[in-house]
Amino acid sequence: MGDLSRRDFFKNAAGVGLGISFFEPIFFKRGAATAVSAGLPVIISSGGHGIKANEAAWQILSKGGNSLDAVEKGANVIESDQEDMSVGLGGLPNEEGEVELDASIMSGPDRNAGAVGALKYIENPCSVARLVMERSDHVMMVGKGALRFALAHGFKKKDLLTDKAREIWLRWKENLSDKDDWFPPKELKEEDVFQTYGTINVLVVDVNGNISGITTTSGLAFKIPGRLGDSPIIGAGLYLDNDVGAAGATGRGEEVIKTCGSFMVVENMRRGMSPQEACEDVVKRIIKWHGGKADFQDNFVAINKKGETGAASIHKRFRYAVYNEKGNNLYDGAYLLD
Ligand code: GLY
Repeated sequence: MGDLSRRDFFKNAAGVGLGISFFEPIFFKRGAATAVSAGLPVIISSGGHGIKANEAAWQILSKGGNSLDAVEKGANVIESDQEDMSVGLGGLPNEEGEVELDASIMSGPDRNAGAVGALKYIENPCSVARLVMERSDHVMMVGKGALRFALAHGFKKKDLLTDKAREIWLRWKENLSDKDDWFPPKELKEEDVFQTYGTINVLVVDVNGNISGITTTSGLAFKIPGRLGDSPIIGAGLYLDNDVGAAGATGRGEEVIKTCGSFMVVENMRRGMSPQEACEDVVKRIIKWHGGKADFQDNFVAINKKGETGAASIHKRFRYAVYNEKGNNLYDGAYLLD
């Protein structure tokens, strides 16, 4: 248990300070190993798919590339992977069966940001977000305007709904109600039990200590068309400050937006917390807002300017990948509730 957790325990036990109830869980459970890096560069990405993203990002860094190119190329690989049903091509669609993508990007050295929301037909939304950042006077573009902007820059329209994603959406639609005319199939398939949130964060500190980050997603499966999650919101699904570090969120975006989650993680690091402590603090905030329990999942990953990393979730089963001098490895995030 770190000093912070011990302090929190005594504060809570005395019933003073934060006004947290005595029943609120305060001890994070940890996997056998956490990532420890001895130098730069370091990449941290959320989820099991983080391994693939890190590989692509490392290819850029190992050739002397910068953090911004590294995060973009890393995220592009997952966006273009049609087997990944939470990001880009192959992502699960909205309630009308249309794939709507959200993404954001931040460049530490430029202190700049770009984002797109509810973007249809474009496989790599984080690259459009980069263009919003670099080739427009705006930070965020959504819907048809974002699509027109992408097409103006030469992106090609593509049907992003794969057969696999369409079939899962169809099962969902057929099982919605017994008061409509859609009949469900006689047997449910394995894919009918699926995760409704996916998303990937890719955060890099390059050899020069410059920080970049991306968050990209197809968002909540079967969402109401036009719903934006946390991923395109600077400060919610992604935040960084080149003097401090970076943070990204995955999971139920509504809670991350309400708590300005990634911004809070970075501000915690600015005030002296380690990336691990900073992530855990925000997870505790979210759980506190829900009376000490949560029937949803949120996850945070963070990295500071020295390349130290951290990750924490509400519930277990969150993994993250770190590429450092030890190679590219997957770790279990700390979690508060079973
Ligand atoms: N965190 C992804 C979403 O809520 O859309």
